Amino acid sequence: MSSVNNPFEKNLAALGVASPEQLQSLFAALRARLDAEAASITDANSLKTFRDAWFGRKSGVLTLVGDNWLKPAAAELKRNVGQELNKFKAHAQSVLTEKESSADSSADDSQSSLDLSLPGVIRPIGTHHLIRQVFQEIEDIFFSIGFSVVEGPEIETPYYNFEALNIPEHHPVRDDMDTFYLDLPKGAPGPLLLRTHTSPVQIRTMEKRQPPIRVIVPGKVYRRDNPDATHSFMFHQIEGLAVDSDITFCDFTGTIDYFVKQFFGESVKTRFRPSYFPFTEPSVEFDASCIFCGGTGTAKAGGTCGKCKGSGWIELFGAGMVDPAVYGFVNYDPKKVTGFAFGIGIDRLAMLKYGIDDIQVFFQNDVRFLNQFP
Ligand code: FA5
Repeated sequence: MSSVNNPFEKNLAALGVASPEQLQSLFAALRARLDAEAASITDANSLKTFRDAWFGRKSGVLTLVGDNWLKPAAAELKRNVGQELNKFKAHAQSVLTEKESSADSSADDSQSSLDLSLPGVIRPIGTHHLIRQVFQEIEDIFFSIGFSVVEGPEIETPYYNFEALNIPEHHPVRDDMDTFYLDLPKGAPGPLLLRTHTSPVQIRTMEKRQPPIRVIVPGKVYRRDNPDATHSFMFHQIEGLAVDSDITFCDFTGTIDYFVKQFFGESVKTRFRPSYFPFTEPSVEFDASCIFCGGTGTAKAGGTCGKCKGSGWIELFGAGMVDPAVYGFVNYDPKKVTGFAFGIGIDRLAMLKYGIDDIQVFFQNDVRFLNQFP
């Protein structure tokens, strides 16, 4: 800006301005000049040049007008100069604000149009864990034959976990279930433990309901077992319980056979062997014909089948007819009701069906494993 074109570099007397009218036209010319310069702003650089030229603290036009026109103005004109300068400052500020905000939004526009041209960010939504999927499969099978789901607490009393299931204190079978007891504050009533199986929910259900009962109980259980390929200290079970006035051993084996065939396929055979649980009598272990070698005991590639160790059978789970002694704990008349119960270890069942050889992979949350079961 040359000084000829820059009247704000001189004072009013030098410019020959002595009346309010002359003053008004001087400010009008300045305003027209500001508007013209603002109209030519095209980008961030020209905005910065404009801001520095007009609003710069040391030598911006507004500062110079204050220094050269207002401060040395003749006393009779000073008030008018002050008023005109204030009006001009307000106008200049609103022009600057408008230019800055339109520069911001055009920067936003250019950024978002840049984003639109990029591939989107893919956020995998995940799926149910394989154990949850197997729970669902088993629940659906039992729903189809009239069972419903009930749940119970994972923290139990010894009464529900053992005594009411006909396992008194010092019974040797308690040794099979190394148990986590809770550290309780002094004076807390009775010991508490993490349930070692889902069977306590049999008792809780019969306490609340009268026969007929047909329920399954999915859930977590805990045992002080050292981790290895088939043992975990936390694992999953589904309990089953059916009690009515005329349930027979045939109903029991027929139900289990139906379940196993639905779960593993029609070609799978089942068998049961005598076993022992204090809360079922008689008690059995159910086996299924080996799904890996088709029950032949010989691996497809030849040699002994490693999964069933050549026997052609794989042990599935324990079950039995409800021991009449258990009915005594829930005030059922053992002469009037009969029933069966079973307890399926879900993790091992899932390992069998999906050919998984280490139970620990269920709990390591390695996505390379989880991705295989979408
Ligand atoms: C029971 O827990 C009985 N409550 C089952 C039952 C219910 C019998 C109703 C009769 C009537 P058992 O201790 O065998 O039984 O355990 C059942 C299943 O849990 C086993 O077949 C096995 O699949 C699984 N299991 C046991 N311990 C572990 C462990 N540490 N890790 C993973 N799975 C286990």
